[in-house]
Amino acid sequence: MASRDTPNTAVDKLSEAQAKSELTRLAAEIAAHDKLYYQSDAPKISDADYDKLRKRNNAIEARFPKLVTKDSPSNRVGAQPSGRFAKVPHAVPMLSLGNAFSDEDVADFVERVRKFLKIDGELDIVAEPKIDGLSLSLRYEDGELVRGATRGDGFTGEDVTANVKTISDIPHKLKGRNIPAVCEVRGEVYILGRDFIGFNKRAEKEGIQLAANPRNFAAGSLRQKDSSITASRPLKFFAYAWGEMSAMPAKTQFGMIEWLGKVGFSTNPLTTLCDSVDDLLKFYRKIESKRASLGYDIDGVVYKVDRLDWQERLGFVSRNPRWAVAHKFAAEQATTILNDIEIQVGRTGALTPVAKLAPVTVGGVVVSNATLHNDDYIKAIGNDGEPIRDGVDIRIGDTVVVQRAGDVIPQIVSVVLDKRPKSAKPYKFPTVCPACGSHAVREEDPKSGELDSVRRCTNSLTCPAQAMERLKHFVARNAFDIDGLGDKQIEEFFTDGLVTTPADIFTLQKRDARSLKKLANREGFGATSVKNLFDAIDARRKIALQRFIYALGIRHVGEGNAKLLARHYGTVDVFRKSMIAAGKGEDSEAYQDLNSIEGIGAVVANAIVAFFAEPHSVEAVDELLKEIDVLPAEKVKSNSPIAGKIVVFTGSLEKFTREEAKATAERLGAKASGSVSKRPKSSALRC
Ligand code: IVH
Repeated sequence: MASRDTPNTAVDKLSEAQAKSELTRLAAEIAAHDKLYYQSDAPKISDADYDKLRKRNNAIEARFPKLVTKDSPSNRVGAQPSGRFAKVPHAVPMLSLGNAFSDEDVADFVERVRKFLKIDGELDIVAEPKIDGLSLSLRYEDGELVRGATRGDGFTGEDVTANVKTISDIPHKLKGRNIPAVCEVRGEVYILGRDFIGFNKRAEKEGIQLAANPRNFAAGSLRQKDSSITASRPLKFFAYAWGEMSAMPAKTQFGMIEWLGKVGFSTNPLTTLCDSVDDLLKFYRKIESKRASLGYDIDGVVYKVDRLDWQERLGFVSRNPRWAVAHKFAAEQATTILNDIEIQVGRTGALTPVAKLAPVTVGGVVVSNATLHNDDYIKAIGNDGEPIRDGVDIRIGDTVVVQRAGDVIPQIVSVVLDKRPKSAKPYKFPTVCPACGSHAVREEDPKSGELDSVRRCTNSLTCPAQAMERLKHFVARNAFDIDGLGDKQIEEFFTDGLVTTPADIFTLQKRDARSLKKLANREGFGATSVKNLFDAIDARRKIALQRFIYALGIRHVGEGNAKLLARHYGTVDVFRKSMIAAGKGEDSEAYQDLNSIEGIGAVVANAIVAFFAEPHSVEAVDELLKEIDVLPAEKVKSNSPIAGKIVVFTGSLEKFTREEAKATAERLGAKASGSVSKRPKSSALRC
């Protein structure tokens, strides 16, 4: 029997010949999925289906042990039974840095630190290059490397221990005496430019996929399932930070870097202790001039307050430390022609103009689109109402300078006026939505009376573009992450009327025969694809609260805010009820509670309340909840005596600035309020 006939044959019914060809088929199929998952980061099947392939492979091998080959998927070094990396929660989150783009931004950073700490004396700051690689956390217990984890979303990463152990810069055992029992060392995995070029040259010869840039190369190499592949890649590591530490071996940032060097890590030799803004800027200029000859990619420099007790006091605001900042290098630029301006309608109705450019290479990447942000930006008016680009507007037909920085969407930074065609006319921004024809307006801020810079379609209920974008967001990777249901499928299903609300995705299987036939008959979509899609949908009927909240696509509620909300409210029921109650007005307890979550400001709170004030949104949420289970989130626990209390700071404070006092109270789980509310709650403490 030919092997294509055996995938559904029970393992105990297979003949030896059938088993042999079935194993060959499975090995090829698993290898192809591995490649898609690990190298292209574009899996085509669900984790569950992938596991089924592996289980079948293992079951056949168990029945016919002599058919096990050296290349069998079960024999690959570093492969895990499930074939995917385990998730690792970070005991101390791996957060990111705020950015400074100009000398003034750096001066502002230093000033902010001084003000927060109330100091005008000496302030030492460590300056070091910002390595363009990927961050890694290494956990040592009793001096032994026990786990390596990627950053992931900052709260949960992937366990890449086997791969990390192949990197020669990473010690398996820490050197010296008095090593703290638990040390989490953090830093950046990167590759030397010459090694990257060498790899791509070989890959080209061998017909393997080339890496787009050194950072992607480092990331791809670290996430190999077969650690012998990682071992063959010349990855390097600089240590510059830490997570959980059972004891601190030094009192300063600089002292910690020295300690990291002593226990066996490579630390960046350019790390310098500075004590003034001038010093920091000198360091920045020096590193910028050395950038091309360093041998590895950097995208700026990082400044960190040296004293660790001050770092502790400064703490974090949102997801960035107050005690550090990244000073980024200027972006790369190129000149091209603006062929057209297209208007895209986003999921919150925002009309975003997109520049359609004659393709041009900027810093090694071909750019043919750039964001134009909004009407004012095209007209050369900045967010603060002041002129930008020397007051020069952007017109179709213009020659423009395009800039790209890191992963940021390309921007138009200036217009070459000498080359403006005589026929070029000022751009007229549409006042109706191009997708549904409804009015598109610039909302007025009720407090300041200023017009919002974004023009929005007023038809949030039935505008097809908004509805479709909301669905794309709903199934996206960080939301419901449904395998096989990407932007393209959503567009098709939406156009065909098969899926118009999130709940429709989960009721797809219950449709009448005609609809199901319509589904199976689409191009490139057979009965197997339909089955795979239904399995992938079923696999997401249970979802974490934070993903659920993020998936709703509420304005201003990104992953970070979704997590804060999930942790605060715990269950979907409490969240839903509280949000509806918060809509009763700013004086309501539910609104006050929402507004007091650290990191959730009035703008975000109002956006959430506005979402739940729409009966249509609540209905869509309720329909969806009939189809899925939302798993409760872990609430932030705190045993501090002021946890859960509202703290009000009145009068003048002696040791703290008001900002620091507020941040400290919030860190201890309290809610800090700026003023005594009209109706003080019994649990409010006054300090
Ligand atoms: S310190 C609390 N130092 O930049 C943040 N980060 O945006 C601690 N990075 O994810 C990070 N070089 O991957 C720090 N010398 C350096 C760095 C550095 C590169 C990366 C790191 C982090 C990102 C922050």
